Amino acid sequence: MKSSNTELSTSKAILACLLPFFIILVFYVVLETDHAKVSFRNMLSRFPLARSTHWSRLSSSVSSLGPFSLPKAISSYDQYLSASLEEIETMRASYSRLGWVHKNIGYKLGYPEKLKRAEDVTKLNAKVTRGIVDLAHAEFASQQYHKGPYVPTDLSRVQESLKHFVRDWSDEGRRERDRICEPILSVLRDVPVERRASMKVLVPGSGLGRLAWEISELGFNTTAIEFSYFMTLGMHFLFSPQTTQTSNQHTIYPYANWFSHTRHNEDLFRGISFPDVLPRFKPNLRLIEDDFLEHRGETYDFVATLFFVDTSLNIISTLSHIHKLLNSGATWINLGPLLWTSGGRTRLELSLDEVLKLAQMVGFNINGEEAAHDEDFNGKVVSKLSQAALEKRKRRTVECEYTADRLAMMKWLYQAEFWVATKIDR
Ligand SMILES: C[S@@+](CC[C@H](N)C(=O)[O-])C[C@H]1O[C@@H](n2cnc3c(N)ncnc32)[C@H](O)[C@@H]1O
Ligand SMILES: *[C@@H]1O[C@H](CO)[C@@H](O)[C@H](O)[C@H]1NC(C)=O
Repeated sequence: MKSSNTELSTSKAILACLLPFFIILVFYVVLETDHAKVSFRNMLSRFPLARSTHWSRLSSSVSSLGPFSLPKAISSYDQYLSASLEEIETMRASYSRLGWVHKNIGYKLGYPEKLKRAEDVTKLNAKVTRGIVDLAHAEFASQQYHKGPYVPTDLSRVQESLKHFVRDWSDEGRRERDRICEPILSVLRDVPVERRASMKVLVPGSGLGRLAWEISELGFNTTAIEFSYFMTLGMHFLFSPQTTQTSNQHTIYPYANWFSHTRHNEDLFRGISFPDVLPRFKPNLRLIEDDFLEHRGETYDFVATLFFVDTSLNIISTLSHIHKLLNSGATWINLGPLLWTSGGRTRLELSLDEVLKLAQMVGFNINGEEAAHDEDFNGKVVSKLSQAALEKRKRRTVECEYTADRLAMMKWLYQAEFWVATKIDR
């Protein structure tokens, strides 16, 4: 009796061990269809924790048919409308499966009307996504991207990009921007105006380019580098006189695809106009559409990383590369969280303490952590920075948000870390 009991519990234990594999298998089988995968990813993308999965991929995926590639981005923007309408259709089907009593209540609540509104504003969004695709077709006509095999679309990344227009280029996003851009810009403003034009600033992972543009407006020779075509196609759309001629020319409805955490339907369907200012490429602002880790042959006086270093799958490569791209004595300014790509894909998932230690090991002095610095902005020892300038460079925690919906009933707050570091020669 006793031995069979042990046997029973042993087989139970074995079953328990196999259960996770079974669950994964079921997921795999169930999510085989592309649509299901997209919906699953959409579901994931709604949780900020999953956002790192969103942005961080192997750099090798840039060129080919990777998740951030030109074919992928064009195809996704191109099919934004059909894929979105399909999602709304699924919601409508779900509603219509209600029994007639409940359906009638839903009708009295105006639910079919609400779905119709979602459809209407999605069509308005498609004006922008269509504009992005048309411009991309014109600008990348020489590339044979459209001759390739069929590329499945990634609706969630398009929806995410629409939110970036708000973050970077709308009045609505100003509060979010001010919190994160000001600490960086105020350090740069301490460089005398007349010296800025000859100084080079690199902004890796520049997204839709607002920070890089602001830095160029201060007078620095600025390079933005970004490997996701979901972002750079949006940036082309903003910066091209062909597609954007006046401020607040375009309107998007970036919140209409997710009904959760809504106080009023008006909030859900509100339009956001952009751009709040009219950006253009200029001699002192360029965009490189490539992997930052592949960027070499030039050095910079500043590297500014905003919500960037944690997107890397190998933080050591990222920090070493920042170090390599800086002139000696030059400055790295960082602001961001530590949201590592989960699932063991990131080589190292470090704590802030560990990242700061690593920065030192790579060859940085974190300002305010060491004895006061004597370097000026070119690394030459001249005079001490003023007390006010030192204060601005102090490492500190900045509470901030990322593509937040100001009116939602839910908030995701980052306690991001800001620091200024100086390259020490080794
Ligand atoms: C979390 S987003 C932040 C975007 C922008 N800095 C902001 O704060 O809005 C990180 C960005 O870095 C880009 N990125 C990540 N690794 C990169 C790499 N190795 N080269 C170029 N861009 C990269 C991603 O495509 C993404 O646009
Ligand atoms: C900015 O730097 C780039 C790259 O080094 C250089 O090609 C360009 O001429 C510079 N532009 C200005 C306006 O100094």
